Amino acid sequence: MNIPGLIETAKALVADNKGLLAMDESTSTANRRFAELGIPQTVETRRAYRELLVTTAQLSENISGAILYDETIRQSTLTGTSFVDILIRADIIPGIKVDLGAKDLAGFPAEKITDGLDGLRERLAEYAQLGARFAKWRAVFSIGEGLPTRACMEANVHALARYAALCQEAGLVPIVEPEVLTDGTHTLERCFAVTERVLGMLFAQLYTQGVRLEGMLLKPNMVLTGKDCPEKTTINQVADATVTCLLRTVPAAVAGIAFLSGGQSSELATSHLNAMNSRFKERLPWALTFSFSRAIQQPVLAIWNNQDANIEAAQQALVYWASSNRAARQGNYNPAAVL
Ligand code: G3H
Repeated sequence: MNIPGLIETAKALVADNKGLLAMDESTSTANRRFAELGIPQTVETRRAYRELLVTTAQLSENISGAILYDETIRQSTLTGTSFVDILIRADIIPGIKVDLGAKDLAGFPAEKITDGLDGLRERLAEYAQLGARFAKWRAVFSIGEGLPTRACMEANVHALARYAALCQEAGLVPIVEPEVLTDGTHTLERCFAVTERVLGMLFAQLYTQGVRLEGMLLKPNMVLTGKDCPEKTTINQVADATVTCLLRTVPAAVAGIAFLSGGQSSELATSHLNAMNSRFKERLPWALTFSFSRAIQQPVLAIWNNQDANIEAAQQALVYWASSNRAARQGNYNPAAVL
């Protein structure tokens, strides 16, 4: 196993205050987001939209790596250059989502288990040949009465650790994504407790499976109230709860932490990241950065709306949110700055 190579890639993904662009929506998720805006859901519209993303000039000033999806890693621009080559030339590291989605967990109808371990070794070898240098696997945990169950947590953290070990064997840096969902009415304290439990179990499994922490990234949720919780939280409360939870559970050896946005608005997710970095600057053992999909892409997709005439404005929005998040990594985000 090439441990120094893994460590080098993991460090490069969090270097220079940059973060990751998650553009790895599955076909069904991409189609759902297109449908909400009335954009036709075809291979060509998905390709055209992803071309807009990867060809954005200056993207690499703020983005270190882009997570692709199986369809996207095989696609090219209209002029015939593969997206992977476009990214590599721009000094952006290509990555790939390798899980096959969250499926019903047998015996636990309200919960999910992420599929994709069967045949993963072979798929990783192919993705590495296609140019991917890191991978991503997402597991989801719902909060509710009696949820998440021990069965759900154990099954998912075990799969995450086995995925991570297979990635490192294949020379790909694993991004390990345990997402505690925001659906429901739960409080900040409850999200804290569940996130703490999941992360504690996850790192025990990563240790058991022999995963080298210096050669992986963690992609967690922020600690947030449920979407329908009547209690309102401040930016600083979320920042304090999230960092306290991570300090208790994530070993300092982990190369970096890159948050998912989980349905927060662009401004809120960026403000939370900013508060974490400004309030805890001196106390963080790992880089705290972003790996957002919706919080970066939602404004971009809405502006584009499948119109060529809107490409430039959409790319400007992409640069704006990517650079705002790079500023947030340094605690310098200014929400008043004009788009
Ligand atoms: O798996 C989910 C994505 O990588 C992150 O998406 O930022 O919209 O939560 P999100």
